[in-house]
Amino acid sequence: MVKLIGPKKIRTAVFISGTGSNLKNLIEFSLKKKTPIEVNLIVSNNVKAKGLRFAKLYKIKKKIYNYDKKQISEKKILKDLKLNNIKLICLAGFMKILSKDFIRKFKGKILNIHPSLLPKYKGLNTHNRAIQNKEKYSGCTVHLVNSKLDSGKIILQKKVKLSKKETPLSLQKKILKHEHILYPRAINKIFANL
Ligand code: GAR
Repeated sequence: MVKLIGPKKIRTAVFISGTGSNLKNLIEFSLKKKTPIEVNLIVSNNVKAKGLRFAKLYKIKKKIYNYDKKQISEKKILKDLKLNNIKLICLAGFMKILSKDFIRKFKGKILNIHPSLLPKYKGLNTHNRAIQNKEKYSGCTVHLVNSKLDSGKIILQKKVKLSKKETPLSLQKKILKHEHILYPRAINKIFANL
């Protein structure tokens, strides 16, 4: 993992595709006094991502890549990460799968939040599947990203109880609240001893 030297904060890029509530939460976390990170770049594959408005609001640089050709987009992203001296990537609702090559270049420096208790329900439609399988619990996971989907080392998880009348939407909302607590905690956990 990235080493934090002295009082310097870790230059971080947050990758989004949609609403960006985790992005907003990470920015707020990065503005606290005792925080290991600073958010210097917002990356999106989607020009219409609602979360992009936080770039203006918090005066953070944003970059959008059309992703028509993944290889070309990733090349551009890597170039911009380098230009901005980014040392940590936080995926926050980023709905594109990064290539093995990209992950290798940022090995051990990419975090993701996933709305399930991994290794259960990797991929999409997690809430639907959890409800259909009559799970008593679901939750969220912060993990390191490796070359296999939603399979890297788990940093922290939060278990959440399903109610009898749970719908995918109610579960999504319930879990999202816990995501906002879990992601900063996981980051603190990783960098706590530095
Ligand atoms: C979050 O629930 C996050 O865990 C999930 O997308 C949502 C994004 O919400 N991520 C994935 O499903 C990744 N496979 P946000 O845009 O409000 O942060």
